Amino acid sequence: MLGITVLAAIIACASSCGDPTYPPNLSTRVVGGEDAVPHSWPWQISLQYLRDGVWRHTCGGSLITDRHVLTAAHCISDTLTYRVGLGKYNLTVEDEEGSVYADVETIYVHEKWNPIFVRNDIAIIKLANPVELSDTIKVACLPEEGVILPQDYPCYVTGWGRLWTDGPIADVLQQGLQPVVSHSTCSKWGWWFLMVTKSMVCAGGDGVISACNGDSGGPLNCPAEDGSWQLHGIVSFGSSEGCNVAKKPVVFTRVSAYIDWINEKIQL
Ligand SMILES: *[C@@H]1O[C@H](CO)[C@@H](O)[C@H](O)[C@H]1NC(C)=O
Ligand SMILES: *[C@@H]1O[C@H](CO)[C@@H](O)[C@H](O)[C@H]1NC(C)=O
Repeated sequence: MLGITVLAAIIACASSCGDPTYPPNLSTRVVGGEDAVPHSWPWQISLQYLRDGVWRHTCGGSLITDRHVLTAAHCISDTLTYRVGLGKYNLTVEDEEGSVYADVETIYVHEKWNPIFVRNDIAIIKLANPVELSDTIKVACLPEEGVILPQDYPCYVTGWGRLWTDGPIADVLQQGLQPVVSHSTCSKWGWWFLMVTKSMVCAGGDGVISACNGDSGGPLNCPAEDGSWQLHGIVSFGSSEGCNVAKKPVVFTRVSAYIDWINEKIQL
């Protein structure tokens, strides 16, 4: 009996990530972005900083435990005070049902973060207290170490739209289909060439259907075989010419290259 109970708990635990209560709308494959179904990407967070007494959205991120958020290193500045909005849909509504704001305890920026060559663009935010998980606040699944998705794998980028510094942001959470572009294609001359390493994933950027609606630091969400959603990328950089430029896919930090680093930091 005990064995069965324990096994059931393990199974329940295994499926308790990447599993939205409100399923995302995947029936649309439109050009550009579209409004997400409210709370259908419940690990998506809004990273906000305080300026002149007002909290401002600066980046996206993903909840990976009830106390840790994964985002991009380039989103973090030593001099700012941050908070994390969880369960958000419409950013212009401060007190939204199902949402909370969490204070930050510590931020771990990757030790080898290199802002000049944009290497190791990954950071973990430890919240001051664990958040209560709910229908609107859930954790994403992480992929296994080393997993590489094939060309055209159908992933979705989500966010409020600040994909580039000072770009516009949307009121409500956006989603966009962003198929994977293989490393061999993405690193071609004329594409990203030496800018892209094997610790990155490229997606979108065919100049036709690629969406422009992520946020720096936000998730590249990819479906797993068991029906859950895995966090395969962290929005890192793109073309300064815009979001849907041929041969210039969005470049993500490849989460599956940093599983050991993530596990080390979340145990601190
Ligand atoms: C999904 O998207 C399609 C096309 O944009 C739309 O017609 C439909 O109403 C959406 N479904 C939901 C549940 O939002
Ligand atoms: C977001 O909230 C604002 C303020 O309540 C409202 O004016 C706006 O229409 C909302 N946006 C959407 C897309 O629902």
